[in-house]
Amino acid sequence: MSMESRLNDLLKLRERSLEGGGERRLASQHARGKLSARERLDLLLDPDSFVELDRFVTHRSNDFGLGEQRILGDGVVTGYGTIHGRLVYVFSQDFTVFGGSLSETHAKKIVKLQELAMKNGAPLIGLNDSGGARIQEGVVSLGGYADIFLRNTLASGVVPQISLILGPCAGGAVYSPAITDFVYMVRGTSYMFVTGPNVVKTVTHEDIDMEGLGGADVHASTSGVAHFAHDSEPESLAAVRELFHFIPQNNTERAPEGAGDPPPEEAAGRLLDLIPDNPNKPYDMVDVIRGVVDGGRFYQVHEQYAPNLIVGFAHVGGHSVGIVANQPAVLAGVLDIDASVKGARFVRFCDAFNIPLLVLEDVPGFLPGVGQEHGGIIRHGAKLLYAFSEATVPKITVITRKAYGGAYDVMNSKHIRGDLNLAWPTAEIAVMGPKGAVEILFRKEIARSPDPAAETDRKMEEYREMFAHPYIAAAHGFLDDVIDPRETRDRVISGLDMLRNKRDENPPSKHGNIPL
Ligand code: HXC
Repeated sequence: MSMESRLNDLLKLRERSLEGGGERRLASQHARGKLSARERLDLLLDPDSFVELDRFVTHRSNDFGLGEQRILGDGVVTGYGTIHGRLVYVFSQDFTVFGGSLSETHAKKIVKLQELAMKNGAPLIGLNDSGGARIQEGVVSLGGYADIFLRNTLASGVVPQISLILGPCAGGAVYSPAITDFVYMVRGTSYMFVTGPNVVKTVTHEDIDMEGLGGADVHASTSGVAHFAHDSEPESLAAVRELFHFIPQNNTERAPEGAGDPPPEEAAGRLLDLIPDNPNKPYDMVDVIRGVVDGGRFYQVHEQYAPNLIVGFAHVGGHSVGIVANQPAVLAGVLDIDASVKGARFVRFCDAFNIPLLVLEDVPGFLPGVGQEHGGIIRHGAKLLYAFSEATVPKITVITRKAYGGAYDVMNSKHIRGDLNLAWPTAEIAVMGPKGAVEILFRKEIARSPDPAAETDRKMEEYREMFAHPYIAAAHGFLDDVIDPRETRDRVISGLDMLRNKRDENPPSKHGNIPL
């Protein structure tokens, strides 16, 4: 056979491999507001950068009539490409082929990518749109999932792993995205659950639809399984591209630098007037962040989940940083179970990938309540403490107002290896707030007083004078300096420059035992 006819055959096969499950199924995919597996890759990656691998792979099963249905690629498009010119590996499940279900060979294609990503130190992005284990293949398919889970685990902390859920993701299939670092979902078309609405109805008699059980908003705000929820696939894919401005290729590299442009003047100018005179009044910590970071641009992670703690990425003076900040505008910025877990996971991501931490602190303490105590706030709060304590990346803290009780220790204090600890003059650092402290310390005097309310106020004023400032902590060297809020950005940049070559190591161990 001549080369020409061989090339013709190759061309035909290549064309066939692009067809997936055929036009009817593709039309049905589009009719649901979903893009095809390849359209998604076009939006995610730099133009013309995608190189496909394994396009000729087909399944090996003959059971249930599968022998007559072999589709090139077997329901997942895999390969590599670039985002902002940097290498990424990516798989994109094709729901038009057996519902994107995972066969032995489909799993092998994903495993091949996982191994390439680890060996070559580049992120792996999974676009999930699948009916789960390929039912006809039985245990072989389950084994395929386990092969993927194992490699997700081994790659954790080695290369960033990102999951987009763009259709069904059910049963054990959810555990691959769950191990990855960031999960993106799309409202109305994506859902994740271990058992679907029908099983739930049978077992617990609860009536709920797919969106209510495991839609994007539920996971982004209630369960915390998703870090991002968007209204459309293009928005979600664009958000993943944006993330890549802040994260490195792997655990041995630094994150990409930004241009170092200043925040908008209006945002920086507001810093001085943000803290209300009344210490019980809230303000929005996002305004502080916008006044400090490059261009006022803040890539918030888990925005809908536990909003009393803010986490996300930004550049400051060109340095990529992970910001962890209490949010006084929600529940006064207390730490509760969800906020602690959210913060701990984010801190560990930053530490694993050499991203310095910037903590902005205004925290009245841990949330009191039976629900919190019985829910394990001790165990969960300890996660955040553990995460900050073990982190060896550069760690900078700025206390804007309250730093009370155990929360003072937890929020990257000097004692747990904060490298640069600064405070605004409005900082209040004490074991607890004035009211609680006075009621304990002066209970008898207040009870004996002819005017208990006035006596309480007097004692509170005394207490405030004694503790509602940063100078005792500064006198102990627990703070390195007290600064004018307008100096915050320059001092953080100078700190990040100063800490650029920081070296710190934890004692050798197989691994620590974070209180899970
Ligand atoms: C094989 C599957 C499939 C599967 C869907 N299809 N899921 N084929 N194995 N798991 C096929 C359908 O037969 C159909 O083929 C096509 O994909 C589209 O499916 P539809 O049902 O027509 O689509 P839709 O109405 O949108 O419903 C989507 C769905 C539903 C909700 C995902 O297909 C479904 O419930 N599938 C089964 C889900 C499931 O129980 N999976 C196993 C979960 S347990 P045709 O030829 O008609 O186009 C699991 C264990 C993992 O995954 C274990 C890890 C430890």
